[in-house]
Amino acid sequence: MSDTGKIATAELGTGGPQVGVQGLGCMGISEFYGDTDEAAARDTLEAALEVGVTLFDTADIYGSGANETFLAPFVGAHRDEITLATKFAIERSDTDPNFRGVRNDPAYIRQAVEASLRRLGTDVIDLYYMHRRDPLVPFADSVGAMAELVKEGKVKQLGLSEVTGAELREAHAVHPIAALQSEWSLFSRDVEISAVPAAVELGVTLVPYSPLGRGFLTGAFADAGKELSEGDFRKHQPRFTGENAKTNAALLEPVHTIAAAHGATAAQIALAWVQQRAQVHGLTVVPIPGTRKRSRLLENTGATRLTLTEQELRSLEPIAGQVAGDRYPDMSSTSAARE
Ligand SMILES: NC(=O)c1ccc[n+]([C@@H]2O[C@H](COP(=O)([O-])OP(=O)(O)OC[C@H]3O[C@@H](n4cnc5c(N)ncnc54)[C@H](OP(=O)(O)O)[C@@H]3O)[C@@H](O)[C@H]2O)c1
Repeated sequence: MSDTGKIATAELGTGGPQVGVQGLGCMGISEFYGDTDEAAARDTLEAALEVGVTLFDTADIYGSGANETFLAPFVGAHRDEITLATKFAIERSDTDPNFRGVRNDPAYIRQAVEASLRRLGTDVIDLYYMHRRDPLVPFADSVGAMAELVKEGKVKQLGLSEVTGAELREAHAVHPIAALQSEWSLFSRDVEISAVPAAVELGVTLVPYSPLGRGFLTGAFADAGKELSEGDFRKHQPRFTGENAKTNAALLEPVHTIAAAHGATAAQIALAWVQQRAQVHGLTVVPIPGTRKRSRLLENTGATRLTLTEQELRSLEPIAGQVAGDRYPDMSSTSAARE
């Protein structure tokens, strides 16, 4: 934190804007993680801005557009103070709630950006991501279509999510990519195989999503199957239920020990780890932990003041390799499937 009480800033993509070194993931406000108190969520957005969080992350799929719509008044009130990121590519079905399709074709992208702009109540998206890659559509076509949106002034910067290092290089050759958004946490480190080195080489900022392991790393729940409400997405993630959850909860012991030594919380240790792991790689990162509560927002941004010792980092090193269960029930659309 600076003297102003604001968190430090980081560059979003080479030559891009300065944003708070921690952003805010807004997904959980509208879907996936149980019921939301909307007034508390709006207050959390304001709290974020007050402490220097400026990158706000949404996607057209979150709540099937509801998350973008929810953000619109906040965007309208603070348009010049925030960096607004949204995403396209995941299609849903009106009849099957579990259906997920991936669309990367230029016609779809054109239609998606117009819908997002309309819901967000703005005439420009600061950072527009391809949420998932459809390997059957050449990057020259899909990234080319995204680049057209930059030319037309509908979008300022481009991002990709869940792509491999090779894919990041290929896309970057079509148009500069400012940010790569992929899962990265003490529990999920496959991004370090090829995407992180490519991002360092290309000057792409990494935006780690689910840096709190969807809440599991904080100790907020130990078995999603038993503790979380019906409809919570985490109930269906292999690593958060049954025997896997038991194995994985035990892996958090060093996190709690380190937290106690710093007078910090497990969430803060998890977030400090992402920042320091990025430094090891020489990479700029802007993690986007998600929360709907002011108190947690302040707790999470407080992590930017923490420094873990070499010994602490070493004790956290083996965790990811021992995690039981995949990140998703179906890993086919993730970068891990194409590594
Ligand atoms: N590109 C992609 O494919 C992708 C995938 C998933 C997510 N995302 C983005 O990344 C953002 C963050 O990821 P995420 O929300 O999945 O996971 P996360 O940030 O790892 O964890 C969020 C969960 O942790 C809880 N939480 C937050 N701070 C806490 C604290 N200090 N103590 C205890 N619990 C805490 C939140 O609950 P409360 O809200 O109740 O505080 C929520 O249930 C999303 O909002 C979304 O914008 C992107």
